[in-house]
Amino acid sequence: MTSPFTPASTDAVELRRLAQAASERAYVPYSRFAVGAALRFADGTTLTGCNVENASYGATICAERTVLVRAIAEGLDPSQVDLVAVHVDGPEGQPCGICRQVLVELVPGARVAFVSGGEYVEGGVADLLPAAFVPGALDA
Ligand code: THU
Repeated sequence: MTSPFTPASTDAVELRRLAQAASERAYVPYSRFAVGAALRFADGTTLTGCNVENASYGATICAERTVLVRAIAEGLDPSQVDLVAVHVDGPEGQPCGICRQVLVELVPGARVAFVSGGEYVEGGVADLLPAAFVPGALDA
């Protein structure tokens, strides 16, 4: 089966740089696995986040959710996000399952650039989580 993910667009380069800078602010005393994420809105606004760990482990929040929660808290409209970049210093930096679910809910139309096999690849949020549980399911 061919991968739904294509090499990341040149568009994503600057956003990846912002995600990399955000990863340097990660609070990762337990895993030492620093992650940065950046959103780009249709008007060019950008916003970044990093992972923030906790001694309870379960209270850890990933970089992707940090930046999405931050967008809501700042009064920004997530429906305007067209690109999300995720950076890790390593060969594999795919968004985790919980983050994929949150991406589906808040930025279903966005593209996501992330590290896989040592390269940045890009795909639609629907490619990250096919057959997702969506908000509309609650109306049935
Ligand atoms: N992490 C992220 O920030 N994003 C992901 O999508 C994958 C995992 C974080 C959570 C934890 O702080 C560390 O990476 C190791 O799992």
